[in-house]
Order: sequence, then structure tokens, then C-alpha cells
Amino acid sequence: MAPTSPQVREGELLVQGYRLYWRSVGAPGARGTVLTVHGGPGMSHDYLRSFDDLARAGYHVVYYDQLGCGRSARARESSEYSIDRDVEDLDRVREGLGLGRVHLLGSSYGGLLAIAYTLAHPEGVRTLISASGLADVPLAVREMQRLKRELPPSVRETLEHHEARGEFQDPAYLRAVHEFYRRHLCRLDPWPPEVTYTLEHVSLPKYGTMNGPNEFTIVGTIAGWDATGRLGEIEAPTLVTAGRYDEVTPTVARSIHEGIRGSELRLFEESSHTAFWEERSRYMATVEAFLRRRG
Ligand code: ALA
Repeated sequence: MAPTSPQVREGELLVQGYRLYWRSVGAPGARGTVLTVHGGPGMSHDYLRSFDDLARAGYHVVYYDQLGCGRSARARESSEYSIDRDVEDLDRVREGLGLGRVHLLGSSYGGLLAIAYTLAHPEGVRTLISASGLADVPLAVREMQRLKRELPPSVRETLEHHEARGEFQDPAYLRAVHEFYRRHLCRLDPWPPEVTYTLEHVSLPKYGTMNGPNEFTIVGTIAGWDATGRLGEIEAPTLVTAGRYDEVTPTVARSIHEGIRGSELRLFEESSHTAFWEERSRYMATVEAFLRRRG
């Protein structure tokens, strides 16, 4: 008999006056719910869809698009785009969907958000997974600057030339940005359609407000955020992952791992920022093993 695919459902929740989109795969059960949190800030859940694999392993996997992102509503004022707001929305999504205590899995800015959420609402978190996440944005920025310096000279010069003139949309600049991305964002060639789709649909109001013009130019409102000093408060079993070539570098992952007592660190040697695609089966096996052991 052919195995049946886990059930897919989707819908919208009204959260603090705005419509937020969610999608779930599989059904609630003993293994619990993996609530995924996307990055950007300003991307959408689409690039996380490889985590559907966990539903085939018996988990209930839930995605949502944050305020201002993907299929969710745009905020009326850009001042509504903030970490505090995203933390509160995350809590309302967890409550509104009746998810109970979740395995909270955040990628990149989603990892930052998952950490901020765990500090604010520890009662909602069964386990925490930081997938190329960050807790110390200034450290991540310094590391990205180092990666930029290590690019081939012609790419670096193109970046510097246009950055000095504020030409962040110049076609030559965007080609150079892509050179950084194919080394440090996703090393697969071609990219999975979900990754391409996400990058082509970044929500500029949110990304521009909170992040900046591209992944390695973080000049938005998150630029000074640093929760390193509070990581010791986190008691949830925690897995920290990063790719060897990650734009959010292994040094950043290590700083989270060192801050959270008893956390586990796993580096993916053939990956950058999207190890859950670049080494998909190894990545999923790692998460499953962690959840079986610590969940
Ligand atoms: N811009 C980084 C991300 O992908 C922080 O979320």
C-alpha cells in the first residue's frame, strides 16, 4: 500500500488587527508540533518548506508568514515592524492555532525571534532549534563584513563601488550580491524553487525597515540587537545549527551554543545558510534525532 501523504491545511488568523497566513502539514500527535519561524525580516515561510519532511516522520509542522510578509497583511505603518511585535504575534499564532507547547524552529532572523520568544514566553517552548539563527546582530554584521572581504577582488570592488554611491539596485551591484548569496546563502545550483520564490518576493517595507538593502548590509532596526547576556536564562533543550559557509557564520552559532547551557551545536560542512536544503536528508535526520532525544 502506498504511504499516504500528511494532510495539508492552510488558513488565516486575525492577529492584533491583521490577517496572518498559516499552513500546516500532518496532524497533532504524540511527537508534537514543530512551529517554524522564517527569516528576513521580510521573507516568507516558503523557503522553509523542506521541513515538510518532518511531517512524514510524524510531526505536525506549522508555518506562518509574519506581519508584512508573504501571504499575510502589510502593516499600515512601518513603525509596526519590530521584534517585539513579531514576538507577540508569534504567541498569538501559537495560541490561536491551539498548538500548546511547541518545538520552536527559527531560521536566521526567525532564530533571533525564536530566542526572543523563548526569553519572553518560556512556557510555550518545548524545544528550541536555531537554524542559522543569531542572538548578537553586531557580531553577525562583523562576520558578514569579513566574508565580504574574502570575496574575489572584482566582486568586492563592485560591491564597494555601488555601496559608496547608494546604488543598491544597480544591475551590476545585484549580480555581485548574487555572488555573495551563491557562496553564503544557498550553494545549490540551481536553487530550490522555494528559495528563489522567497528571494523574489521579499517584503521591502519590512526588510528595508528591519534588515537593510540585502543580507549582508544589516543597517535596519535589528542592527544593534544583542541578547547574548540573557541566553543563560533559556532552559529549553536547544539545538543550534549553521553551515560551514553560512552568511550567519559558525562563530555566531557558537556564541549562541556557548550561551545556552546544555545546548547542542551541529555544523553542516557542505552548507551555507540553508542547510535544510543543501544537506536536506542529513539536516532532517539531525533534527529528528535531537527531538527524539531531548523532546
Ligand atoms: N537577513 C538575515 C535573515 O535571513 C538575518 O533573516
